[in-house]
Amino acid sequence: MKITFYGHASLGIQVNDVNILVDPFISGNPKASHIDIDQLKADYILVTHAHQDHTLDVEAIAKRTGAIVVSNFEIVSYFEKLGIEGHPMNHGGTWDFDFGIVKYVNAIHTSSFPDGSYGGQPGGFVIEGEHKNIYIAGDTALTYDMKLIPLQTKLDLAILPIGDNFTMGIDDAILASDFVACDKVLGYHFDTFGYIEIDHKVAKHKFFEKEKDLMLLEIGGFIEL
Ligand code: NI
Ligand code: MN
Repeated sequence: MKITFYGHASLGIQVNDVNILVDPFISGNPKASHIDIDQLKADYILVTHAHQDHTLDVEAIAKRTGAIVVSNFEIVSYFEKLGIEGHPMNHGGTWDFDFGIVKYVNAIHTSSFPDGSYGGQPGGFVIEGEHKNIYIAGDTALTYDMKLIPLQTKLDLAILPIGDNFTMGIDDAILASDFVACDKVLGYHFDTFGYIEIDHKVAKHKFFEKEKDLMLLEIGGFIEL
């Protein structure tokens, strides 16, 4: 499983030959100007919630690639009206896709589209593919619901928001990594705009002090599990 960071909360996940994008917000992110959305491959686009900083490039990429949008019922319905194919899910639901098993899990946040229309309730994803298990938290506060995840899934990586203000910050993300029983964390949702700028050194040191590993990738950088 290869995981590429495209800035903010945008990820590429490659499982075998299948390309998955998560929350593409790239063309609107000046820090990601070296990433060309017209070059990105996508068989699926997973969307955690409707906010623009997670959905901006969904339409363009889905229309070019024919990717299937996987999200909650309301978000999938929204994109189906634009002529995009979707796979609707809702919280607690699991589906066995051709690349692996996906569960849509709880997040504490909000989820409206930029035009104000209802984007359902926000979520995150647990993905099991290629014998690797990852948790993509989406935008969320720290929540006890995270403790449910390790009851069923032994995670290899937790992808957690760390930028604070709109989501968890560093200290809560450290607790979240305890809750999901995974000490290997990829941080996201930081530095994109003023409210969520963080000190990388301090963040990494705080995780290190708890014997945890916080990875922060350059935009375009990747890790392989
Ligand atoms: Ni959001
Ligand atoms: Mn966000």
